[in-house]
Amino acid sequence: MTAASAPGKVILFGEHAVVYGRPGIAVPFAAVQATAEVREAAGAPGQVVVEAPDLGRVSELGELGDDDPLARAVRLCLEALPAAPAGALRVRVTSTIPMAAGMGSGAAVTVALLRALSAHLGHGLPPDRVSAIAFEVERLHHGTPSGIDNTVVTYAQPVYFVRGRPPERLTPGAPLHLVAAYSGQASPTALAVGQVRARHGRAPGPLEELFDRIGALVQAAREALRAGQIQRLGELMDGNQALLEELGVSTPELERLAAAARAAGAAGAKLSGAGLGGTLIALAPAGAAPQVERALQEAGAPWTRRAEVRA
Ligand code: PMV
Repeated sequence: MTAASAPGKVILFGEHAVVYGRPGIAVPFAAVQATAEVREAAGAPGQVVVEAPDLGRVSELGELGDDDPLARAVRLCLEALPAAPAGALRVRVTSTIPMAAGMGSGAAVTVALLRALSAHLGHGLPPDRVSAIAFEVERLHHGTPSGIDNTVVTYAQPVYFVRGRPPERLTPGAPLHLVAAYSGQASPTALAVGQVRARHGRAPGPLEELFDRIGALVQAAREALRAGQIQRLGELMDGNQALLEELGVSTPELERLAAAARAAGAAGAKLSGAGLGGTLIALAPAGAAPQVERALQEAGAPWTRRAEVRA
């Protein structure tokens, strides 16, 4: 049996604008992760059974269409390897990352699967191939992914990301104490990205201007992150959240959770990912994460986790 895992992620700055060429900053959120296990099974050579207990599914690869992310990941992985499997295989994927929450669940499952399957077949794929294949699979969720999710989940390091450019690794000058709180509403990435695209199509000018403002804030955040300026980073997160609200992807529930986090001492708070639901992420000063988490729970968040991001 061969196993591999990949962490969840949060986007600290720049979601949506990153689809339009502006920079984004994402960090791994290792308190949650996806795991894949690959083992030999009884059956004809080349047969692959894909098991996803979280989805209540056990399927034969041949029965799954190419619009199925797990099937697409397995096929793209097998195509990338020099030799076909000699026997039958069973691939099992599990995840503790909430689904449709903007925490990289889809990308993490794909990355874990690609790593476990390629390693099991004796040809572990290098990270750049893993990330590139995960990008292809991400295209099933919405046609125009920026690539930030597959990048941060593959490298499991803070990244400064610009679409089409090699990712830049960021080293935080101080640990980031993060609290994630699910809003209880699913985050439909394709819907949110489509809504922004429709608005951009109707009136590109004002949206380009909004994306420029988000981009400027991301540049400032890169410096604050490197310098370990937690309060400054928090202010920039609040600023980014105000621009996401203007973009139309926040919700009253996300605004309410953000206010609860700030009132409990968070340096800043914003939605993470596509929005219209999904997860709120708060940055806490050292020692304050437990009280911020408690406040988010008291405000009604059905799921919370804390994680620390270090250099
Ligand atoms: O909701 P998520 O975690 O898939 O994040 C989407 C981030 C966007 O910037 C909205 C889209 C993208 O491809 O970058």
